[in-house]
Amino acid sequence: MFHQTKVTAAAQASGLAVSGVSVSAGKTPIVKDLSFHAATGEMLAIIGPSGSGKTTLMKAMTGEMSYCGQITLAGLEVGDLAPEFMADMRAVLPQASQISFPLTASEVVGLGLIDRRRNRQERARRIAEALARVGLSGFEGRTYQDLSGGEQQRVQLARVLCQVWDPVPADGPPRWLFLDEPVSSLDIKHQYQIMRLAADYAERGGGVVAVMHDLNLTAAFADRALVMRDGTRLAFGARDEVMQPELLSRAYGFPLEILERRGSARPVIVPVEAD
Ligand SMILES: Nc1ncnc2c1ncn2[C@@H]1O[C@H](COP(=O)(O)OP(=O)(O)O)[C@@H](O)[C@H]1O
Ligand SMILES: [Mg+2]
Repeated sequence: MFHQTKVTAAAQASGLAVSGVSVSAGKTPIVKDLSFHAATGEMLAIIGPSGSGKTTLMKAMTGEMSYCGQITLAGLEVGDLAPEFMADMRAVLPQASQISFPLTASEVVGLGLIDRRRNRQERARRIAEALARVGLSGFEGRTYQDLSGGEQQRVQLARVLCQVWDPVPADGPPRWLFLDEPVSSLDIKHQYQIMRLAADYAERGGGVVAVMHDLNLTAAFADRALVMRDGTRLAFGARDEVMQPELLSRAYGFPLEILERRGSARPVIVPVEAD
């Protein structure tokens, strides 16, 4: 069943607010005067064609690139936050994660365990639990470089989960997952498994922002969507308002239609067939 979450006032106060944000790479403007918001308890999908600025926007929201305008998380300006503070509040799955030195899957996941107070057994247990959640039980000792692209992606996701394990910690604001194309290199079973995991994180009170390549997965899992084109906001709103055929066709410059499926809240988006 599709999960519809009510946005409470508390969730908005703990939310992400992006207001008049522009991001440049050198002198080239990439993201231009963009505004939208996201709440905990929900998944926001960022969609749009390749090169529309999704990754650049993500890097600004996660503190990796400087920006003009305002980006606040739980009311705090992201650009002003100390890295340790940010690391406790949000975890980031980048679009491409390359590791050039030999580590085991377990060691990669353990990079997310920033709480050094844990003892060795607790760390091992949490790492095993995270690997199990992404369907990689028993992969602890495998060399990361020898894994398939999809397995590496899931190990990275386990690392991210370890970093912000509890979506609503006892002693701080709700936490956030920022995921840049989290399922692009996965097969269909694992795509659904990982999207379910992300949706579950939001249902338990965390915030999820995911750059999505696949429109059908977006339609199946996102609560809200931001559509980007040429670094600007083409549309933003509740998933069903935004996932409209004319709008998506305009966004991607390609004719698309939406097929409703009887008994399912998950429509499918397909190209319009030319006669
Ligand atoms: N460091 C950079 N220098 C110059 N151009 C860049 C840089 N990073 C990204 N771009 C350009 O910005 C645009 C948006 O890139 P990106 O944010 O990666 O888009 P998306 O994730 O939507 O595919 C692309 O045209 C890309 O070539
Ligand atoms: Mg990208």
